[in-house]
Amino acid sequence: MAKSSEESSSRRTFMMVIIGLISSIIGVALTIPVLGVVLSPLFRKRDIVWTKLGKFSDLEIKPLAPKFIPVYFKVKEGWSVNTLPRQVIVVKTIGGKFLFFSNQCTHLGCPIHWVPARQKFLCPCHGGMFNALGEVVGGPPPRPLYKWVHKIENDAVYIQNKFIDNPKDRGI
Ligand code: FES
Repeated sequence: MAKSSEESSSRRTFMMVIIGLISSIIGVALTIPVLGVVLSPLFRKRDIVWTKLGKFSDLEIKPLAPKFIPVYFKVKEGWSVNTLPRQVIVVKTIGGKFLFFSNQCTHLGCPIHWVPARQKFLCPCHGGMFNALGEVVGGPPPRPLYKWVHKIENDAVYIQNKFIDNPKDRGI
């Protein structure tokens, strides 16, 4: 009789363990999709958006005399919408073509500035130098200046928070 009571007790314990396990599996199965919905914005790439730089007819600049213009991209990051301030360097070539460069040095990303007397963009961090066409003319930068994706529509210039040759294909 004592043996039968022991058997029924261990059977009860076994059943409790099984029920506990099944409950845990159901709990985890229900939680994973909810967590996915809640956390997915954190792992998403930054949105790529357009912003207006200004009127094209207002870009009355002399050839090879760069003009720095600030732009503000409103992008969704995670659960919030942030404003990202960036700089566009507009350069008009001798032939009248317009180029829209980033002011980010292509070495380690420091902001460059234009030195008219030397006709060069200089990077204060490690001495990188670029000419007005964005080509490297000195220092460690491994490649020319990045160019913003842009379009001109109805006399307005629009810039995208993406470089033309951005290998990561994500918002900047
Ligand atoms: S960051 Fe510009 S030269 Fe290094």
